[in-house]
Amino acid sequence: MEHKRHKFTSSLGFVLTAAGSAVGLGNIWRFPYLAAKYGGGMFLLVYIILVLTFGYSLMVAENSIGRMTGRSGLSAFGQLSKKWEFLGLLVTLIPMIILPYYNVIGGWVVKYMLAYITGAHTAAAGDTFFTDMLANPVQLIAFQVIFTALNVAVILRGVQKGVEKVSTVLMPVLILLAVIIAVFSITLDGAMEGVKYFFIPSFEHFSIQSVLGAMGQMFYSLSLAMGIMIAYGSYMPKDSDLEKNVGRIEIFDTGIAILAGLMIIPAVFAFSHGDSAALQKGPGLMFVTLPKVFESMPASTVVGSMFFILVLFAALTSSISVMETVVASLCDRLHISRVKSTLITGIGCIAVGAFPALGYNVLSGVHIFRFDILDFMDFVTNSVLMPVAAFLTCIFVGYVLGLDKIAEEVTDGGKFKFKRQKLFNVMIRYIAPVLLVVILISSILEGVGVIKF
Ligand code: TRP
Repeated sequence: MEHKRHKFTSSLGFVLTAAGSAVGLGNIWRFPYLAAKYGGGMFLLVYIILVLTFGYSLMVAENSIGRMTGRSGLSAFGQLSKKWEFLGLLVTLIPMIILPYYNVIGGWVVKYMLAYITGAHTAAAGDTFFTDMLANPVQLIAFQVIFTALNVAVILRGVQKGVEKVSTVLMPVLILLAVIIAVFSITLDGAMEGVKYFFIPSFEHFSIQSVLGAMGQMFYSLSLAMGIMIAYGSYMPKDSDLEKNVGRIEIFDTGIAILAGLMIIPAVFAFSHGDSAALQKGPGLMFVTLPKVFESMPASTVVGSMFFILVLFAALTSSISVMETVVASLCDRLHISRVKSTLITGIGCIAVGAFPALGYNVLSGVHIFRFDILDFMDFVTNSVLMPVAAFLTCIFVGYVLGLDKIAEEVTDGGKFKFKRQKLFNVMIRYIAPVLLVVILISSILEGVGVIKF
């Protein structure tokens, strides 16, 4: 039996909570390093186009499915069609792979936060701080455990709503601080080159990889193709304008990603003097670059501490929202208590997360195709499983469920207009499925090293 769903009483409450889940390390940590790596302005342009067309359509579809069934991703598809129950399992599996390695990165945030709070800002800005952290398996796992334990503690005490409330207050503070940091970063010597690189698309930077990376990032950042937005849809009041809500979540999420890019990418140019190798840093980019920016600001201890505390909150609201759905599904399926279910989920996260953490030291010899363990988990989810889930969702919505059903849900019996219905129909039935197949095939071939772009 599905529990009675708590519904928000206002659209604003819904939008802020969904945005709290969407905005996290994806925006602040992942977006800037991908944009730096895959062509700056070109990546940004492709990303924005994808968010406005494909991301928009998929989010409308997922929120509608959630609202019409009143169910989470796991059971929503099965309720609409028995044959499609498997898709519920697939979209539930994806966040379960993401969560453990997300918690590893969350652990890095904890480590930096503690460094700043204890006044070690000079050490944190040093060249070896990040690599030393990765090289120390005990420390890395300890911080991953701390971050996971924070999640578990919040869920066990049932104070998710409290954390969400706090974070809706802290989010504007994060934005304000990010603006200040971005201004500093932009005014560093040589940073203007970086601003140009980030905003001006140049065709020589276009590659299949930028499209691929941008699409994976879109799923990741907007929490699409993993059942999360279906669950959130089930909390959306019926008389709330679904399309408008989707638009707001996208603006929020994309705005913060761009702001994060502005904090980090110009600084990379300023500190590396245009050396393109610096742009290829990958997952370490934010952690290596920002402490250097903080060093050049007054009161770096305060700025650094505040920044990492705020990022920690943003990360927690994302991971808690996912962990909570896993906990709830386990409770329902295995008929166990919430406490048991929470502990099992936490321990599972730590156990699975140990692999990506150890992949940087003890298991650094382990490579799956050309990836280390964390990158592999990231690749499998973002570049393989999410495109598959998104493809199947499009087919299901476009050809099985029928577009009329979605239109009915969006318009709430004629109360609202489906303003972008044409775009939605064409995206879901034709463009997105074709694009996804092309992307998926090239991404797998590239990932396993058969072709090189
Ligand atoms: N949207 C989240 C962010 O930008 C990331 C995210 C997506 C996530 N799926 C997840 C986090 C699953 C934890 C588990 O930060």
